[in-house]
Amino acid sequence: MSEKAFVMIKPDGVERGLVGDILSRFEKKGLRLIKAELKRISKETAEEHYGHLKAKPFFGELVDYITSGPVFAMIVEGEAAVRNARSLIGPTNPAEAAPGTIRGDYGTGVERNVIHGSDSPENASQEIERFFN
Ligand code: PPS
Repeated sequence: MSEKAFVMIKPDGVERGLVGDILSRFEKKGLRLIKAELKRISKETAEEHYGHLKAKPFFGELVDYITSGPVFAMIVEGEAAVRNARSLIGPTNPAEAAPGTIRGDYGTGVERNVIHGSDSPENASQEIERFFN
């Protein structure tokens, strides 16, 4: 079934000039880009987005990092978009991500892992609302 996924290239990915390559991977997989914006996100939005990680020792650092430079936020649409996007992205820790996945090819650490993708269709709707409202 066709669905929408929220995907965000993080500041390290934008800084390193990886937007074109990453976007192309989604397009080649049949996930159509329906909206995109290069923008700096506010501290409030970052704290809400990572609210489920508030108790983690790295929370403050994560918020500082994600607000440190522009992100490339996008909505992609297609068959099982959330699951397909996550398989293109690979696991959180780039050291565990296979070559050929975005994090496996480009990620340098659990924080600087290049890209975020929503983990369920419900979270995708929430994130689309949060970042594109
Ligand atoms: S959890 O605890 O299972 O919910 O975490 P996980 O899904 O592995 O990661 C959630 C996001 O937290 C980031 N992360 C970190 N940032 C900084 N330092 C450390 N140690 C760290 N561990 C995880 C990770 O990049 C995930 O970001 P998103 O944007 O969700 O991919």
